[in-house]
Amino acid sequence: MYARCIAFLVTFSAACAIYPYFDTQDFIYNVPKVYRICITLDKLLEYYEQKPSKDPEWYIALGMARGQLEYTINELDKSVPAKLKQNLQNITSRMDRIRNNTKYDKLVYRSKDYEYVAKAMLENLEVLSSVLEPLTLGTLGTQKPYRFNFEQYVQEARTKMPSRKAADACTMQLLISAMETQTTQSDGSCEMTPECSQQLLKGSGLAFQQISRIRAAVLATAFDCMEGLDINAHIYKLCIQIYKESKSLEAWEHPPGTRTLFMQQIAYCASQGYGEFIKPRWMNKILSWQEPKGCYADDRQPFLKLTGFVGPASSPPSKEREEEYRVKKAAISEGGSCNSLTSAMALGSLVLYVRALLETDLAFQYDVLT
Ligand SMILES: *[C@@H]1O[C@H](CO)[C@@H](O)[C@H](O)[C@H]1NC(C)=O
Ligand SMILES: *[C@@H]1O[C@H](CO)[C@@H](O)[C@H](O)[C@H]1NC(C)=O
Repeated sequence: MYARCIAFLVTFSAACAIYPYFDTQDFIYNVPKVYRICITLDKLLEYYEQKPSKDPEWYIALGMARGQLEYTINELDKSVPAKLKQNLQNITSRMDRIRNNTKYDKLVYRSKDYEYVAKAMLENLEVLSSVLEPLTLGTLGTQKPYRFNFEQYVQEARTKMPSRKAADACTMQLLISAMETQTTQSDGSCEMTPECSQQLLKGSGLAFQQISRIRAAVLATAFDCMEGLDINAHIYKLCIQIYKESKSLEAWEHPPGTRTLFMQQIAYCASQGYGEFIKPRWMNKILSWQEPKGCYADDRQPFLKLTGFVGPASSPPSKEREEEYRVKKAAISEGGSCNSLTSAMALGSLVLYVRALLETDLAFQYDVLT
């Protein structure tokens, strides 16, 4: 479990001991924050319990969040108030009820490739959600926001890989190869074509393009893929870049359509163990973004197109367009502006905050971070 920390100690000698020692009981000051998160999570889950989503991403996030929460509850310090523990347990029961009542055959997928990826993740949620990276601080360094402005960032993102279509296709390729390797029990690790390797691993990414790379890398780790590559170092590099982006989005005052991305960045990189993504200031933002009815909203379609993640020019054949429309409807889901991916990322990031704030050894130090 602590392999990462040890590995980094070689290059960043003081990485795991930069901060002064606090008494582990100090984390008790975080309890009120966790109560606030619990209220938000409860409302969010209640909304989707009553209006089930058809978006696979919501159920993937739900499964991952369930894993984090279960671990947190099992590891709770004895000094955590019983009522808070019960609160957390009640949240997990609500998650189980939602999962129990899910009609998986009714979920809507944006493409065949994506359907393969999402189903593989849903079928392996037990495994995926049980892989927990220890949260550490001090490895990402002090990253500054970008010097350029939001418009320049959007233009720059357009030049990056992969597009959503390519990400779906290449992640599917990776998973198919992983399944083949597992079933044939052959020695070779799963491989991607040079094109996909180029799309997912090489070069640089930004915005949603970068998030696709992280997802692919996390799946590669979970399924023992790409032995020749130091995946942890790859994820580390991606999260440094992403940390700069999160800080930039904040500096640009969260332009319309970017909230989902911001929460995705937190959820993906904090779950890889990077404690820099845990900031009380960011927690307050996420809590404040909740709609009164409990869900989260963010119209990110224009932003997705502007950054080139989904192509604006290509006019898809009518059958695909019809599918796209259904996906859009499923994502917006019942209830006005609610967006299931945004809600999924709020869930994913907030559950990581709960875990971070209650995990004894670093819990008090997040306030120190800017
Ligand atoms: C948890 O759920 C139980 C049963 O519904 C309820 O009696 C209890 O008050 C809840 N606890 C908290 C802290 O919300
Ligand atoms: C889920 O369904 C199973 C079987 O139908 C049942 O035993 C279990 O109690 C349910 N769990 C919840 C939380 O509703």
